[in-house]
Amino acid sequence: MKTDVVIRGHIVWCDTPKHIQTVPHGYLVCENGLCRGVFEELPERYENLPLKDYGGRLVLPALYDMHLHAPQYAYRGLGMDLELIDWLKAYAFPEEAKYADLEYAGRAYAAFADALRRSFTARFCCFATLHAPATLLLAELLEASGLQGYVGKLSMDRNAPRDLCELSADRAAEDCEHWIVEMQARFTHIKPMVTPRFVPSCTDALMGKLQGLMEKYGVPAQSHLSETRDEIAWVKKLCPDCRHYAGAYDRFGMLENAVMAHVVYPEDEEIELLKARGTMAAHCPSSNANLRSGIAPVRRLMSAGVRMGLGSDVAGGESIDMLRIVTNAVQFSKLYWRIVEPNEPVLSFPEVFHMATKGGGSFFGKCGSFEDGYMLDALVLDDRPLRTVVDLTVPQRLERALYLSGELRLVQKYVDGQPVLQEPAP
Ligand code: GUN
Ligand code: FE
Repeated sequence: MKTDVVIRGHIVWCDTPKHIQTVPHGYLVCENGLCRGVFEELPERYENLPLKDYGGRLVLPALYDMHLHAPQYAYRGLGMDLELIDWLKAYAFPEEAKYADLEYAGRAYAAFADALRRSFTARFCCFATLHAPATLLLAELLEASGLQGYVGKLSMDRNAPRDLCELSADRAAEDCEHWIVEMQARFTHIKPMVTPRFVPSCTDALMGKLQGLMEKYGVPAQSHLSETRDEIAWVKKLCPDCRHYAGAYDRFGMLENAVMAHVVYPEDEEIELLKARGTMAAHCPSSNANLRSGIAPVRRLMSAGVRMGLGSDVAGGESIDMLRIVTNAVQFSKLYWRIVEPNEPVLSFPEVFHMATKGGGSFFGKCGSFEDGYMLDALVLDDRPLRTVVDLTVPQRLERALYLSGELRLVQKYVDGQPVLQEPAP
């Protein structure tokens, strides 16, 4: 059943990247699970809907994590002194191998699903591991959490430890197909995504099979693109016939209906291709700093019209806190301007907030705004723990909430109109 609810509080959201909209002490109307707009006074026609009055709390769109790795949550905050390929070998691969054990996977994924439920994230695109049973268990836990999004059973058949490689492209496709069919039969809110880890770990034969599954079942794809210079050089060697890294996905139709994480070093032609294919680039600033990958040219991508969302990339990024990722993106864009390209203006706070809400949200449908017809994904934040004697405006309170997210109290999170947290006493 879809919810009817009127949420009262200081309502704040971004229709456009240009500015933050606010209605202090406003009414956010949700009818039949859909937003009907934000009002200063409650229109008479909505007076019979149940009212949730959150007083002086902030009410904002929930955030979308467009790229993270569920099995890496267990070791987040470790190995942050390594570069990508060494970090994969030392941390990611050994940890991911453990998910062959369903008991271990159950414990690790229960912690992950619970943390994500309590986070600022409403919807997500997440990688799992090669193992279908563990990935189904993850989807089951996430479905029960009330959140929505995509989960990907990982595919890789080269350049990985033997126990993390598919036995053959045919066998991999068979396993992946069974997994997709079971996902689609069992879950409503958690959907399957084809997930080649990245070009270095997938043969052409496997990519071709995955393309067939995307087409047969209408599922999207997610992967990594141009994260580090070493990785790009590696892809050049592995795919000498491709004009560039993006081209290595494009020949298998994997840029359409797809999320590509990172895009730190795109060539002009690749940017044009991403735009033409409608690929969503997931900017992961925290991960790009931790793994010394670099700073993505977000302004250039945005100006060219590439769809953009924001990702935590846990555990390349150390935290699933998407409010903090917003501030990371603003901070690193300042470094980019200072160190790399003074002609590219820094990202404004509304631009990044928009990217984290309506930008990423567009991958899931009409999500990420409080405009009429949008699905209601919202956070109710108590910023009283951010003690101050200064009299702040609502946009100032939002800005501080983003920078000081660790000190906030999340009062409630609505996903598709449904509250997902047990509310504490006011
Ligand atoms: N590229 C291939 N695999 C990974 C991964 O697990 N994390 C990150 N950050 N990049 C990758
Ligand atoms: Fe990643």
